[in-house]
Amino acid sequence: MDFDLVIRNGTVATASDMFKADVGVKDGTVAALGTGLAAGREEIDAGGLLVLPGGVDGHVHFDQPTGDESVMADDFLSGTRSAAFGGTTTVLPFACQQKGQSLRAAVEDYHRRAAGKPVIDYAFHLIVTDPTEQVLGQELPALIRDGYTSFKIYMTYDALKLNDRQILEVLDIARSEGAMVMMHAENADCIAWLTEKLERAGQTAPFFHGVSRPRVAEREATHRAISLAELVDVPILIVHVSGADAVEQIRWAQGRGLRIYAETCPQYLFLTADDLGGEGFEGAKCICSPPPRDAANQQVIWDGLTGGTFQVFSSDHAPFRFDGPGGKKVNGEKAPFRCVPNGIPGVETRLPLLFSEGVMAGRMDLTKFVELTSTNPARMYGLHPRKGTIAVGSDADIAIWDPARKVTITNGILHHAVDYTPYEGIEVTGWPVVTLSRGEVVCRDGALLASPGRGAFLPCGLPAPARPKGAPAPALPF
Ligand code: URP
Ligand code: ZN
Ligand code: ZN
Repeated sequence: MDFDLVIRNGTVATASDMFKADVGVKDGTVAALGTGLAAGREEIDAGGLLVLPGGVDGHVHFDQPTGDESVMADDFLSGTRSAAFGGTTTVLPFACQQKGQSLRAAVEDYHRRAAGKPVIDYAFHLIVTDPTEQVLGQELPALIRDGYTSFKIYMTYDALKLNDRQILEVLDIARSEGAMVMMHAENADCIAWLTEKLERAGQTAPFFHGVSRPRVAEREATHRAISLAELVDVPILIVHVSGADAVEQIRWAQGRGLRIYAETCPQYLFLTADDLGGEGFEGAKCICSPPPRDAANQQVIWDGLTGGTFQVFSSDHAPFRFDGPGGKKVNGEKAPFRCVPNGIPGVETRLPLLFSEGVMAGRMDLTKFVELTSTNPARMYGLHPRKGTIAVGSDADIAIWDPARKVTITNGILHHAVDYTPYEGIEVTGWPVVTLSRGEVVCRDGALLASPGRGAFLPCGLPAPARPKGAPAPALPF
């Protein structure tokens, strides 16, 4: 027998091509692509179905310590289970340094949290919140060399944010070590000033979370992040871009030839500021940062996805229960928006929403979908070509999609541990029916077939897109 598994008669799509082929799998990797492949020990008939690289979700939060009373609903088991049911086969959550903590200790703690749980493969980004001399001089370079080759820094949130000087120091290490920096770009002082004004006026309902974080605050921080990166001559990736103003800055930078990359997420295509309104505390379900905008901004985000401004489409799955312990109501049912945990779930719905409204609605072709949701995130974070494509030698991480299946999204059909989905009631066309990780069926037709802990930790290579252009501006002697 030549193959452990053959996926037969499907239409394969990668970021560049679509073709009819059988996929032969041996020892967890793709061993052959072609027609009329020899029999496998196991066979899957994919006639009428699409055979796509499993999704790579480059931005999720699972079991991340929050530093306060709030608790994430999803750990590495429920989070990866939910990801797999949504057609995703690799996730990158964040090992977050608490201020005063060593970065290495944060990574070790996060490995303990993951141990024995994931059903699919995973890598870690770091979050750098306390760039001490020890962190910059020793820990961060050593961790990058150990395979933690991307990290996020924040321009907002008191517990996480760095000032401009600290950002420059961190960018400088990324440049010398070849790591990818992810930027949360919102102006902290604008937000704090507006929040205080709103609180003084008694405007503390969830709806005002959006008012406190206007597009101009995102625009200013995006421009500043770009300028700091240009000064150091290092590529950066601006995460969870929400609206037209930030998109304009990113296009300006890209037009100048700077290596500025960008990510957006389902909430900026499928939700608006109105979703933070509604009866009582309901709007808290959609509190995330930056907040969703309006229909005109959604269109700009669509155009950015199809037109090349954005390289990656991630979920930013940040799971807090609405009713349960440690969730959105952790500070009471009438808590001011400032005290509501930020973030929404979406790891399982990321791909079906984009597939339906992107591919099936005719906004983008299937190769673009694969590029944005699998290939590019794998490239950006040093996992390609092991992950993010279907090619001989790549891991057999594959999602088989039924493009005709109509599904109404309700929380009841999802597999996360959150008690709601912001996308309740949306009907989608197209759904992943089988998900394979390294050639093993993880889920099929609604059943989980993988054991907790089978997912492997992935040390990441240095991402090619993180290479500097080679000339700091103005030309500096380093
Ligand atoms: O509101 C959000 N996006 N919460 C998750 C943390 C982050 O900034 O990505
Ligand atoms: Zn963020
Ligand atoms: Zn996030």
